[in-house]
Amino acid sequence: MAILDKHKILETNATLLLVCSFLVVTIGGIVQIAPLFWLENTIEDVEGMRPYTPLELAGREIYLREGCYVCHSQMVRPMRDEVERYGHYSLAAESKYDHPHQWGSKRTGPDLARVGGRYSDDWHLDHMRDPQSVVPESVMPKYGFLEKKMIDGKYIGDIMKANAIVGVPYTEDMLENAQSDFMAQADPDSDYDGLLERYGEDSVNVRNFDGQAGVSEMDAMIAYLQMLGTLVDFSTFTPDASR
Ligand code: HEC
Repeated sequence: MAILDKHKILETNATLLLVCSFLVVTIGGIVQIAPLFWLENTIEDVEGMRPYTPLELAGREIYLREGCYVCHSQMVRPMRDEVERYGHYSLAAESKYDHPHQWGSKRTGPDLARVGGRYSDDWHLDHMRDPQSVVPESVMPKYGFLEKKMIDGKYIGDIMKANAIVGVPYTEDMLENAQSDFMAQADPDSDYDGLLERYGEDSVNVRNFDGQAGVSEMDAMIAYLQMLGTLVDFSTFTPDASR
């Protein structure tokens, strides 16, 4: 067959094969990459997304520090078993304020993308102190030391500023009140109206998460865990099919 004979020329000449492969890969690359420069946004905007509150952001920093991502992913894949277990599959927009994202690639423990609101604060407290006390077969390490470490949010404004530089829409108002918002979220007796006004009335939990006076790393961690996956209202969300 003539066409196969011509292909033989290509297959028996390394330089020619290399040049032609390069051409094919270049064309393929342009076809894939070029349209991205003309799309206004590659992430579909979704109602409900807001930047992390200062306390939640601190919890996230502790989550990174402790390497929770080594055992936990934060991305529900659009597969039936995952959606049935964890809830609606994750949307790109849900991690658009995550720098770096926590999708992960290892699940020694369950996915945490939608763990917010699934358990009580007390459950989390018991579980963090001693996972085996609530889930006997658990291999998760103990993190009780988090409740002994008190924090004052002195540097949280700096972390928020760093996030703002990479595109998280923290306003001047949010940055100015970072430390007081940080303290207010863990103290239901405080004046937290400003916090709710800045971040949203319905989506911010103001509670004494760890049950003790003052703000501890445990407060921050539980505040973070309790908001994961709760921002988008999936009872009203419909994927935009035009994209
Ligand atoms: C060595 C692996 C490992 C590490 C590290 C780890 N976990 Fe876990 N985690 C697990 C396993 C296994 C489970 C399932 C059993 C259980 O509930 O304890 C789990 C369960 C959980 C759950 C309950 C999830 C659910 O849907 O039931 C939460 C919340 C959680 N981990 C948070 C954390 C946080 C926060 C950190 C970091 C401070 C962390 N884990 C670090 C292994 C780990």
